[in-house]
Amino acid sequence: MSAVSEKKSVSVPAEEIQKQKEYMQLVRTLVESRFAASPKAYVHTYGCQGNVSDGERLEGMLEEMGYELTSELCGADLVLYNTCAIREHAEDRVFGNVGALKSMKTANRDMKILLCGCMMQQEHIAHKIKKSYPFVDVVFGTHVIHKLPEFLYTTLSKGKKIYELPNDEGVISEELPVHRDSSFKAWLPVMYGCNNFCSYCIVPYVRGRERSRDPEKIIEEAKQLVAQGYKEITLLGQNVNSYGKNPDYGCNFSELLRRLNAIEGDFIIRFMTSHPKDCTYELLDTMAACDKVAKHLHLPFQSGSNRVLDAMNRRYTREKYLELLNYAYSVMPELSVTSDVIVGFPGETYDEFRETVTLVEEAEFTSMYTFIFSSREGTVASKMPDPVSREEKGKWFKELLDTQEKIAAVRTASMVGKTYRVLCESVSKGGLIEGRTQGNIIIEFPADTSVIGSFREVKVTESLTWILRGEIQ
Ligand code: SAH
Ligand code: SF4
Ligand code: F3S
Repeated sequence: MSAVSEKKSVSVPAEEIQKQKEYMQLVRTLVESRFAASPKAYVHTYGCQGNVSDGERLEGMLEEMGYELTSELCGADLVLYNTCAIREHAEDRVFGNVGALKSMKTANRDMKILLCGCMMQQEHIAHKIKKSYPFVDVVFGTHVIHKLPEFLYTTLSKGKKIYELPNDEGVISEELPVHRDSSFKAWLPVMYGCNNFCSYCIVPYVRGRERSRDPEKIIEEAKQLVAQGYKEITLLGQNVNSYGKNPDYGCNFSELLRRLNAIEGDFIIRFMTSHPKDCTYELLDTMAACDKVAKHLHLPFQSGSNRVLDAMNRRYTREKYLELLNYAYSVMPELSVTSDVIVGFPGETYDEFRETVTLVEEAEFTSMYTFIFSSREGTVASKMPDPVSREEKGKWFKELLDTQEKIAAVRTASMVGKTYRVLCESVSKGGLIEGRTQGNIIIEFPADTSVIGSFREVKVTESLTWILRGEIQ
């Protein structure tokens, strides 16, 4: 048995969290003496919801240390980029933005620049930052975010540069303060890391091994959120379907959903991401039976070709995937399925790509996130021959988008005239209220801003391919 499967070794020890809380106090005292008013911290998170959730904890700690969060980069006393490594483009943006901080730092020597997140967990990146961006004060990896107070205290009090990216299997840090971005939608991590090693993916290298949070802690946090008036709770994990395997709490993901569904209150539960290889009929039956679980399933398929799926190390077939979808639609006829797909995996042929197109035609997704393969250093796929040009892959990409666009248009058109329960979220660019159906489709309608944060029955009056227009009933 590996060390992570023992309960104790997964959580950051309470003494360590206590030590960090003491550092928070030290930073607070230090900044109070150094700054006339509260110093300003600009935090920007890239990447997935898991990273956004980490960002909310980093922000929570900064607030606890006396910083005021700001959305203005200009004039910030501290800049923290919480980065993503999933594709090259994500990393390029970070390098561009970090480079642009150099002149700010020259103008304000006391400004602190901190970089963390998945991109920083890679040694070659930390090395590049050290060499080419020496004005960065602190670089820390994904397994030590709870140590932000200690890092900040060290750099503020001693002016020392810090590069810390321990290459371990990862931890779970409970009891950190959290600054939630919304007062009615909350992220609730249920597990961290990934053991799947899909051949193209960097996540298992930068996020460590799969580790599940104690169900009691999850339920306690969910109860608190509901008591605070949260209306939507999204459970997060790279592969929520393997929740509860490591450590074994005697509670699988279906059981966790049932227990959360039993919490009293008017709220909905979402979750992501599901891996088809671990998606069971039990989970689909549980979704169907739990009234608070949104009838939306994000189930990435990545490719419609069995040869490519095998090369991707996905461990399911096209047939198995479609069988799962058929079962899901049979127990939840109103289900909305979304997916992720990669175009131009190394060695993929046009005929194999066409199998992806036909799967999309059969699956009838509500929407899809489509990515062109991006080579990630250290992954198995980065060493595979990749003869198809970027230009050719671009054409395939467009062909797939056109296919999905037609399907989405038919799907949303079939919703016109029906009424859906919608969580009202924000004001759209056009001045309408914007919300989402349980199926995660955006719907806009005229209403007063006072509806934001509440559920409303909205009748669909018009479909615009990806989004809907409607009116409150
Ligand atoms: N854990 C999730 C995916 C997380 S990453 C799952 O297994 O489904 C989100 C998406 O990014 C993936 O589903 C995949 O479609 C895409 N992705 C990951 N690595 C990629 C790469 N190297 N190039 C292009 N897209 C990639
Ligand atoms: Fe990446 Fe695969 Fe893990 Fe998803 S399941 S995070 S794609 S390795
Ligand atoms: Fe990016 Fe890390 Fe998420 S690589 S997608 S931020 S787990």
